[in-house]
Amino acid sequence: MARSTSRFVCQSCGSVTGRWSGKCESCEAWNSIIEEPGSLSTAPIGGTKATAARAKIRTSPLPLEPLAGGNPPPPRTSTGIQELDRALGGGLVPGGVTLLGGDPGIGKSTLLLQALGGVANAGHEVVYVSGEEGIDQIRGRAERLGLAEATVGLAAATSADAAAATISNSKNLKLIVIDSIQTMYAEGVESAPGSVAQVRASAQVLIAAAKRSNTALVLVGHVTKDGAIAGPRVLEHMVDAVLYFEGDASQHYRILRAVKNRFGPADALGVFEMTGLGLKEVPNPSTLFLAERQGRDPVTGAAVFAGFRGARPLLVEVQALVGAPSPASPRRAVVGWDSARLAMTLAVLESRAGLPFSGRDVFLSVAGGLKLEEPAADLAAAAALVSALLERPAPSECIFYGELALSGEVRPAPQAKSRLDEAERLGFAEAAVPSEIKSSRLRITKINRIDNLVQLIAAQPLLKAPKTSDWANRYDE
Ligand code: TYD
Ligand code: MG
Repeated sequence: MARSTSRFVCQSCGSVTGRWSGKCESCEAWNSIIEEPGSLSTAPIGGTKATAARAKIRTSPLPLEPLAGGNPPPPRTSTGIQELDRALGGGLVPGGVTLLGGDPGIGKSTLLLQALGGVANAGHEVVYVSGEEGIDQIRGRAERLGLAEATVGLAAATSADAAAATISNSKNLKLIVIDSIQTMYAEGVESAPGSVAQVRASAQVLIAAAKRSNTALVLVGHVTKDGAIAGPRVLEHMVDAVLYFEGDASQHYRILRAVKNRFGPADALGVFEMTGLGLKEVPNPSTLFLAERQGRDPVTGAAVFAGFRGARPLLVEVQALVGAPSPASPRRAVVGWDSARLAMTLAVLESRAGLPFSGRDVFLSVAGGLKLEEPAADLAAAAALVSALLERPAPSECIFYGELALSGEVRPAPQAKSRLDEAERLGFAEAAVPSEIKSSRLRITKINRIDNLVQLIAAQPLLKAPKTSDWANRYDE
């Protein structure tokens, strides 16, 4: 028996409880639980009736397929935007469902309008359904983006069922964008648009229609910090690919990151710059993140990390500031890196290399507002910290990477050759890296082997005489 009562649904993770509470017990989000009409079933799972009914079911066994004999890769349609294609794993897939998440105002609608224009200009049928903006507003934006002539079907609507019917009715629809899933509602579901129940139901009808008609579907999902409306988290399981559009509102660049992709690599990455004329692709992201170094004299507390992200190398500057010792409890702040990693790196520098960081304020920041997640960033962060503490600039033509162990040892990182090739391409002449590099095809001239933190500091030239240094562990092959 289902007792008629209210149920309480966490808008962050979708878990259902019988009473309200300030904190969701499943996902630990605060203030995310709201009351929704409907009933919380109190019936035991599978009553006697159900058991009796199930006993009568006859069914044939599953037809089995051999494991061998792969499918051909799905055909891809280019969006006309290479960085987006890259993040999608090569372009749109027929019937593929993509969720594009991101903060409001980051540029999701802009990106997708540009993609719709690209697909339309290649001669395909495309539809844009917006529940957020009026037709005039969308037309105005399209004009600004130089897409006024693109044959994009527009609808300002919020009915998921009508949008699904649009998909089912048209034979050759290549791409449909729903902006945003939080504004959609499905008939017969009582909850308000944006609630978990509505978001889930709306997505279900749209996804089913897209799969049936082999139309690529992109759902826009706003991410909000307070969890007041359903975050796209509940959707992540329902879709084929999840892309996040990120960036600092105060910065111009945007990063498109794939966090899940059934049809491609999950770590793919696209980089854009927001301009007055829409989003511009950045094919060489390293140049963007290193832009502020151009023509600058060497400064203390800065080191370039040769990173690897989204299947490609990415160079970025790590900056550190270290204060004078003070009796007050020291402040530690970090932007773009993990604060636990900073604490660990400081502890290792202190106890393995005897550097006096304790009692001093320490600030660490990654240039351009980029967030570093690779353990290999440790050595660059350590170099920036040491440089700041000793007030000696690291050589401006040197890149760093390597993971720091608690023992003070520096561990190798994957994709060494790509990192070094990118550094060379961008004019870096030196590298301070762990020693696993063997390739004789490396073009970078000076490789300084740093297998232990002590070598970073003991190799005085690294921080003392940047340009005339003659490194002890030179690598010539
Ligand atoms: P938008 O695509 O509306 O963001 P979202 O859909 O993620 O909420 O982008 C909004 C911001 O982008 C807005 O602040 C204006 C800016 N913008 C530009 O700078 N240049 C442009 O050409 C366009 C269309 C928008
Ligand atoms: Mg928008």
